[in-house]
This record gives sequence, structure tokens and C-alpha cells, in this order.
Amino acid sequence: MATPSLVDTPGSVLANTNRDFFNKNARAVFEQDWVRHLTGQITDALRSNLDSFTIRKRTDSGEPVRLLDYACGNGLASRALAPHVDVAVGVDVSEAMVELYNEASLEEGYSRDRMFAVQGNIMDGADISHTLPDAVYFRFDVAVLSMALHHVENPYSCVSKLVQRLQSGGVVIIIDWMPDSGEGLTRASLDDQDPVMQDIVNKSRMSFSCDEMRMLFVAAGCAPMSIDYHPYHSLSHLPEFITKIKGGANKRFFLAMARKI
Ligand SMILES: C[S@@+](CC[C@H](N)C(=O)[O-])C[C@H]1O[C@@H](n2cnc3c(N)ncnc32)[C@H](O)[C@@H]1O
Repeated sequence: MATPSLVDTPGSVLANTNRDFFNKNARAVFEQDWVRHLTGQITDALRSNLDSFTIRKRTDSGEPVRLLDYACGNGLASRALAPHVDVAVGVDVSEAMVELYNEASLEEGYSRDRMFAVQGNIMDGADISHTLPDAVYFRFDVAVLSMALHHVENPYSCVSKLVQRLQSGGVVIIIDWMPDSGEGLTRASLDDQDPVMQDIVNKSRMSFSCDEMRMLFVAAGCAPMSIDYHPYHSLSHLPEFITKIKGGANKRFFLAMARKI
């Protein structure tokens, strides 16, 4: 992995590519069978690892327990963790994803006080207060980034900016693909993919090992002893049109977590 750099100007270019792609494809992405299946697996991974998260519990007199669901998409992580937090805030660079998130949370009966999403890219600018500077976007108890670290150009900056949004003792949870877990999504295999998606893939990493996650968490100010990396027990199937491998390919995702010092 490249030397840590926490300044992320070029990342904004990739963020705009992502924004255009997901604005055009937001609904279609979640209508695919393999994405639905993966969504179920990620929900299961989040819920079944809850004991090891030890998110702060709310007491009657305490402050609400708050979740930041970054690169939230339609809000899968917010809904998976909703029973354990008082407020979930989704942030996504794509306006269409934000719309989907807010639609889905209302449909499921969550009020806006309980669950809402806004458009934003917290990696914009070197200064953390450049984007979403209000207090409501800081001092979270837990921050989740599901299937989006592979969409950013500078993973160091991304994890660092996420951790800066936590309060001390808060937990950051990252879900993404493991390297070398079966025949996977490779840059070469995406040669004739949609050119916009190809650009995203060419400029970002596709998977992260346990050692790489450890480096990212420590550089971001998390306690080394708090770091955990759980491979999910089952493989996920990516179809042929994504992998360009006959019959598709199986990959395993991980759930990694760490606590801010
Ligand atoms: C593969 S989707 C994952 C969505 C959701 N987290 C999930 O697990 O279903 C990737 C999401 O990352 C968002 N995204 C990509 N780059 C981003 C950035 N720099 N800041 C915020 N969101 C970003 C995209 O708009 C998209 O909604």
C-alpha cells in the first residue's frame, strides 16, 4: 500500500465519477439479485458481530447513541444497526442514493429525527470542517463504511476523516472485499466494463488485507489492541457481467473494526 498521505485532493475527482455513476444507476444497483443477496449477507455480518462492537448503550439520562453511515447507499447499514442506536445519519456523494435512503427509511417507519441522509463528501478539502461542519455531523458513537473503501482513491484519508467524526472511544466498522479470496474482480477482467465503472476501478483498490486495515486504523488514531478483522463465513457470488469470468466468481468480504483512542 502507498505511503500514508492524509490530503486527498485527487480523491475529489474520483468522488465526482462515483457521484455521476451512482446518480445514474442508484435504483438499478439494488435491483440486481446478487446485490440483494450480498445485502442480506452484510446485514447478517453487522448484526452477528454486534457483541464485539460494544457500542455505547444509552442510559435514560445519556446523550442519544449516534451512527454515521458513510457512503450509505440506500441505507443497509443504518437499517441493520437501527435497533442499537438512537439516530442514524447517512452521508453519500450521490444525491440519488440520498433520495433512496430517505425514501426507504420513511417506508420502514423511521422518522427523520431517527434516520436521515444528506449529500456530501467528507474527504473534500484538507480541513475536516470543509464539508458538513455542523455539530450534528461530529462526535458519533459509531461510523460504518460498507462496500465503499474500494471506491476511494486515498483509503488513508478516508479512514482518517471517518475517525475524526467519532467521539473518543467511538467505533469504526469497515466492510469490504478480502484479497485473494477466490477468483475475483480484477482490473484486467473489467476491460470492457462500462467506461465510468472502469475508471472507478482503475483508480481505486479492490480489496484490503488484515495488515492493510491495521495500518489504516492505526494511522487514523485507533487503538491497536482494539482492531479486529473478521472474514465473513460465506462467499459472495459476483456475476459474469461484472467479473468477465465465465460463470462469475466467488469472493469473501471482511468486517473490520477499531476503536478511536
Ligand atoms: C457499492 S455502494 C455501497 C452502498 C452501501 N454502503 C451498501 O453497502 O449498500 C458505494 C457507495 O459509495 C458512495 N460513494 C462513493 N464515493 C464516495 C465518497 N467519496 N463520499 C461519499 N460517498 C461515496 C456511492 O455513491 C455509493 O452509494
